[in-house]
Amino acid sequence: MQAISTEELSSFKEQCLRELEKASNLEMLEAVRVGLLGRKGAVTQRLHALGDLAPEQRRQAGAVLNAIKAELQEAIALRRAALEAQALQEKMREAALDVTLPGRGGGVGMLHPVRTTLWRISDYFVSRGFVMAEGPEVEDDFHNFAALNMPADHPARAMHDTFYLENGFVLRTHTSPVQIRYLESHGSPARIIAAGRVFRRDSDLTHTPMFHQVEGLVVDQQANMADLFGELEAFLRHFFEDVNLDVRFRPSYFPFTEPSAEVDVRCVACGGKGCRICKQSGWLEVLGCGMVHPNVLSHVGLCADRHQGYAFGLGVERLAMLVYAVSDLRAFYENDLLFLASFR
Ligand code: DAH
Repeated sequence: MQAISTEELSSFKEQCLRELEKASNLEMLEAVRVGLLGRKGAVTQRLHALGDLAPEQRRQAGAVLNAIKAELQEAIALRRAALEAQALQEKMREAALDVTLPGRGGGVGMLHPVRTTLWRISDYFVSRGFVMAEGPEVEDDFHNFAALNMPADHPARAMHDTFYLENGFVLRTHTSPVQIRYLESHGSPARIIAAGRVFRRDSDLTHTPMFHQVEGLVVDQQANMADLFGELEAFLRHFFEDVNLDVRFRPSYFPFTEPSAEVDVRCVACGGKGCRICKQSGWLEVLGCGMVHPNVLSHVGLCADRHQGYAFGLGVERLAMLVYAVSDLRAFYENDLLFLASFR
């Protein structure tokens, strides 16, 4: 075996160091380390080959090779430390939190348009001295029907599409039973409004099985039809934000009032010319009302000779549809956030 020249060994070392330089990440560095110092690596093989040399040469070349090996080990350790630091930097840069970025935004909640409308109506009547009254949504037959002058065989019951419960109770079909409950517990005088959910087996463009009503009731010794009309006209002009809004009262029928009237406003969509919304009539029906029927007063133990009263009832969704120009009532209950947010 030929002697190994010093020049050859130093050029071998340079070559190894250049390869190290090329390793630009930790995986490449490991590959280079195995290639040089691993069991079959270039340096290792040279060390093995020393055995073939004469003793003197072996000593000399062995010393140089071992020095190269040590130098390479140190260079690899240094390079590994540098690459590890670099990798850490990169990781930190990727994971960095930019606290100056705008947030994704939680979105501020808002009231449902039906709730807003209900509150507008009840706030108005509270400002007129009415007191809020409540009653249960599951009602008995007496309060929902009989006490309101609708005995068992009364044909007006058929208009209510009632949800009957197995125990003989009903889901209240209107807020009028609150009149009865309030008069039973407070007597006369009374000046109340009752707002809340009511239920009917009905579903189409203008009906949902659950909707909201506001009921008004005034009972004392002189409540009269002129007061009723004045109160409702003022309310409707306030509600539709039109001080000159035309309001008309038409004779009608409700079992619990006599006389009874339905209340129309000049169509708020077309101004009375006639359109799809007012069915070409120029008027919109918005309320029912009348003088409390003497039979209702006697059902709550009031003497119809000494007390009289007026009452009115309205559908909240119907009014909400008119002010917000919504044509399908069911849209209020589909929870489409885009639709709901348009009322913000
Ligand atoms: N309870 C009636 C309904 O649901 C509405 C109503 C009409 C209430 C006239 C009243 C009233 O108090 O006087 O259809």
